[in-house]
Amino acid sequence: MAKAAASADDEIFALRLERSAPDLWPMLEALYGRHPAFDAFRANLLKALQKAWAARPADLKRLDLKRDLEPDWFQRPDMAGYVFYIDRFAGNLRGVLDKLDYLTDLGITYVHFMPCLKPRPGDSDGGYSVMDYRQINPAYGTMADFEAVSAALRARGMSLCIDLVLNHTAKEHAWAKKAAKGDARYQDYYLMFDSAEMPERYSETLVEVFPEHAPGNFTHYPEFGKWVWTTFNEHQWDLNWANPQVFLEIVEIMLHLANRGVDVLRLDAVAFMWKRLGTRCQSEPEVHMLLQALRACSRIAAPAVIHLEEAIVSPAEMLPYLGRGQHDGKEGNLAYHNSLMVQFWSALATRDTRLMRHVLATHFPETLRNATYATYIRCHDDIGWAVTDEDAQAVGMSGPAHRGFLSDFFEGSFPGSFAQGALFQVNEETGDKRISGSFAALAGLERAQAAGDVAGVEMAVQRMLMGHALIASFGGIPLIYMGDELALPNDYGYLQVAAHAHDSRWVHRPQMDWQAVARRDDDNTPAAQVFWGTRHILARRRTVAALHAGNGTRVVFPDAQGVFAFQRLAPTGVVLCMFNFTEHWQHIPEDWVRAQGVSLMHDALSDHPVETHQGAVALPPYARVWLT
Ligand code: GLC
Ligand code: GLC
Repeated sequence: MAKAAASADDEIFALRLERSAPDLWPMLEALYGRHPAFDAFRANLLKALQKAWAARPADLKRLDLKRDLEPDWFQRPDMAGYVFYIDRFAGNLRGVLDKLDYLTDLGITYVHFMPCLKPRPGDSDGGYSVMDYRQINPAYGTMADFEAVSAALRARGMSLCIDLVLNHTAKEHAWAKKAAKGDARYQDYYLMFDSAEMPERYSETLVEVFPEHAPGNFTHYPEFGKWVWTTFNEHQWDLNWANPQVFLEIVEIMLHLANRGVDVLRLDAVAFMWKRLGTRCQSEPEVHMLLQALRACSRIAAPAVIHLEEAIVSPAEMLPYLGRGQHDGKEGNLAYHNSLMVQFWSALATRDTRLMRHVLATHFPETLRNATYATYIRCHDDIGWAVTDEDAQAVGMSGPAHRGFLSDFFEGSFPGSFAQGALFQVNEETGDKRISGSFAALAGLERAQAAGDVAGVEMAVQRMLMGHALIASFGGIPLIYMGDELALPNDYGYLQVAAHAHDSRWVHRPQMDWQAVARRDDDNTPAAQVFWGTRHILARRRTVAALHAGNGTRVVFPDAQGVFAFQRLAPTGVVLCMFNFTEHWQHIPEDWVRAQGVSLMHDALSDHPVETHQGAVALPPYARVWLT
């Protein structure tokens, strides 16, 4: 019996290997084929895949089969994500177990733990400076706690996403420590130089991610006489992905985590993984080869697992992370829709959706293969104004002027702005200014409340609910960032925390407000309104089969600049989603609405018939409708 089971298992592995081999070996051959140790690397990688599969727990193997049979599991309209820091949400991992009812009630089926692997001590860039990928941050609990939570989530049909930081490790990682001691094998895991010459040549074309608190892209360590590539902070050492040994090590880590019950791996800062002299060293072709090869490894040894790629780049540069050309259908299953996020804020500030329509209609196809977007309005990072000069010009705007306007508007310094944000990483050289701030504060709640402006508070609530309805319907998995379902304000407490004060992103990483949760039933505060509104949006979404992420999304152009609209193209008929980005009523002719494929004139979001007025659909300020 045991023998039969073992051989059936071997056979499954062999079939999966056969399926994904054409996605894997040619990539590795192209990346590493000329490396002297290539043959040994190939053999070791195969062994690592076999070993991980053999160690995979039975319940996860069952999940593998289930998802083989239901490959669209992550595209269904009941998938809705919630992103949080374990300590800020629930104290620690055990605490998370007590909060699962809250998440289930909200309609959440996917949780993303912000970095939870063992970080370096002190400032760890919010946990993105990892010193041990096989241990849980001791402040959150142990690996056993982690596995208990992952099992509890699985039992509820919820998926678990965690971060896998693969562009860099903490300088306290065991590999980095050996490298610093002079071990050549481990020095080759990083990008180290004996003199300033190459770093200077690379720097000519590199951008700075943290120009204020971590300027430059290299750090000189006189103690061991090397210049080390450090794109982000000094303590985050970039890995050398040109070394196949790094690929092998990361695959082992990746599958180790997969076998602990992780469903979604959020691959952090992937754009930076490959370096080429004379370029920005972002999104080089090899990055996509690496990501396809990593995906193939998961598909072979842990096929229940999918990859979310974090590449916060311009619209045209982002799409390949979901697989284009030779990588079509084989790269990220999910990637952040940064452009949708940026355009939401841009249109909110200008009350004009022309740029939004142009960007989303021009750069993104109607459908994706084996992939979809992670749609979001806010995350733990700043907002960078990723609007290209060309896109701005196409709608008669100036790129630099518009980007400057958006920073001023959301910082709150632009006259008449409703927003209250904080600047992040002002780059004096390029004029680039990014913005931090909670959804509620950027949407106008903080200012309106401070001014006792009742109508302003109402507008802010409506802006938030419009945003939640947008990410719930655009196509993809909507990711709600903790607190955004309760309109949590900016948290200025970070200025008093030594390890955080230099980094304004902490202004929007608050503690969960469980008192606001407790009060949500009995008052009509903005927190309660946003909570019930968000819950309603997710509940309605689950009932609208057409919102399945496999169905196309086509941007359409109503004759009202303040209204953004798209069709969701389901085989059963169209859903027309419309969003009024202004504080004025907008009227969309009924003829035009019907011409988009709407026949029932029913709003699936409110679950009420559409109200028309003199032959037009009347949209109140910040209205959102899903018309069937
Ligand atoms: C990612 C994270 C960000 C972090 C950076 C470096 O972009 O989202 O918070 O600072 O990577 O790891
Ligand atoms: C830049 C990087 C992104 C990172 C962010 C942190 O946008 O592209 O990867 O998360 O900076 O602020």
